[in-house]
Amino acid sequence: MLLYEQLASQLREQIAQGALRAGERLPSIRQLARSHGVSTATAVQACLQLEREGLAQARPRSGYFVRAATPQTPSLRPPRRRTPATVSNPMLQDVLDMLARSDLLPLHSATAAPELLPQSALTASLSHCLRHAPAAALDYAPPQGHPALHRMIAQRYAQLGVSVSPDEIIITAGAMEAISLALRTVTTPGDVVLVESPTYHGILQAIAALQLKVLEVPNVPGGGIDVARLDQRLQQNTVRAAVLVPNFNNPLGSLTDDAAKQAILASCAKHKTIVIEDDIYGELSWSGQRPSPMRRWDRHGNVITCSSFSKILSPGLRIGWLVGSEWTDALLRAKYFSTVGGASLPQLALVHYLQRHDLERHLRRLRMALADNGQRLHEAIERYWPKETRACTPRGGLSLWTQLPPDTDVGALFETALAEGIGTSPGMLFSSRGDYADCLRLSCGLPWSDKLDRALQRLGRLARDKRIHR
Ligand SMILES: Cc1ncc(COP(=O)(O)O)c(C=O)c1O
Repeated sequence: MLLYEQLASQLREQIAQGALRAGERLPSIRQLARSHGVSTATAVQACLQLEREGLAQARPRSGYFVRAATPQTPSLRPPRRRTPATVSNPMLQDVLDMLARSDLLPLHSATAAPELLPQSALTASLSHCLRHAPAAALDYAPPQGHPALHRMIAQRYAQLGVSVSPDEIIITAGAMEAISLALRTVTTPGDVVLVESPTYHGILQAIAALQLKVLEVPNVPGGGIDVARLDQRLQQNTVRAAVLVPNFNNPLGSLTDDAAKQAILASCAKHKTIVIEDDIYGELSWSGQRPSPMRRWDRHGNVITCSSFSKILSPGLRIGWLVGSEWTDALLRAKYFSTVGGASLPQLALVHYLQRHDLERHLRRLRMALADNGQRLHEAIERYWPKETRACTPRGGLSLWTQLPPDTDVGALFETALAEGIGTSPGMLFSSRGDYADCLRLSCGLPWSDKLDRALQRLGRLARDKRIHR
C-alpha cells in the first residue's frame, strides 16, 4: 500500500467509527503531514482519495470536511448499442416546452441562479459600454469576435499552462454554437460521431441536426470516460469526430483524469478521429482545483476546444468560443455564414467586466456554493426519496444525477412535477435512444431555500407514488 493510501485508510476508519463526524473539518494538510510523518504532498493525495470516494469534501481556503452519509452511486449499465445509430429523442419537445416557461422552480436547468452570478457588475459594464461607446456597442462585432476578448481568453489558458494564440479563438453564441460549428466544419452527413453516455442532450441534438450518426461510449460516475471501450469503438468503426466533456460531464459531474485524457488523445490521433472538447464546466471544480482541458496534451493539432461564459458569468450574454487549431479559417467561414458575427455589446461589456473584477474570486465563491448545494441535495435525497435511490457525487459542474428505484415511472413523475411548477430533467434525454429511463438530473445551481426543500420533499413523494406495481 502506498503511503497516501495508508493515510487515507486511517482517515476512512476514523470516519467509519464516528471519530470524525459528518460536517467536521479534517485535520489540516500540515497537521496530517506532521502527525503521520509524511510529506504534505502525501497528505494532499490522501485527502484527494477520500474526496474521490465521496467521503470528504474540499472547501476552497477552508480545508477538507467529512461529507454527510451519501446515497450510493448509480449503477449505470453501459449503453447496449455498440454500433452507430441515429439520434431519436421523443422527449425533446417536452424540454423545449419546459425551457419556454419562466414560472418553474428550475431544477431542470444546468445554470447557476442569478444570485450566484455577478449580475450588478455585469449590468454596470453593459451600461458603461452603451453610455460611452454606443456606436461600437450597437454595431456588428467582427466575425471572429472582439480581439480584446480573444486576448483575455488566451491569457486565461496561459495561466493553466495551455498555449493558445488569440488568433485561433472565435467568439460564438455560447458553447452550443461552438459545438455546432465545429461539427458542421469537420463532418459530412452520414459520418459517425462518438459521444459519452450519458451526455448533454444539446450535443446529441446538434449531431442529429447535421444527419450524423452517433456512437456511445460509457462515462462512469466515479471515473469519467471509459478509455478502453473508447479505443475499442474507434478500432471497430470509422469515427470522424468525438464530442467529449472530460471535465465534469453533464449530467454526471464526473472527471476524466489526466492520464485518461492523454490516452484518449493518443487513441483518437491513431484512428484519425478529431476531438471536439467541450470544456464548459472546467472552471467549476468543487474542490477548487481547475483540471486541464485536453488540448494541453494535444501534440497533433487534433483538438477543437469549445467553451463559454454561460455557466460562470451569464448564460444570457450568449458568449462562448472555439479554439480552432488548424480548422480556424474554416470555422471562421462557418461562423460568418451562420450569424455574420456575434453581438458587440455583450462582448465589449465582458471585456470591461474582466478588466475590472477579480474573476478568480467570483469563481471561488461560486464553486463553494455549488459544492454546498450538491451536499444539501444529497442530504435531502437521503431524507425524502425512496431509500433505494442512488445519487452521484459530482466532482464539479452544475448537475446531480440520480437513479430512482427501477420500477419508478420517471416520465410520469416528470409530468406531474412540471404540472406543479417543478422542472426536472428525465434521464432519457441524455442518451441517443432513451436509455436511463430510471434516472433524473437535478440542478445544483439553486441556493438553498424552504421552497427548494419542499420541492425535493414533493419529488420524493412523487417517486413513491409513481412506482409501477406489476
Ligand atoms: C455540456 C454542455 N455543453 C454545452 C452547453 C451549452 O452551453 P451554452 O449555454 O454556452 O451554449 C451546455 C449547457 O447546459 C452543456 O451542459
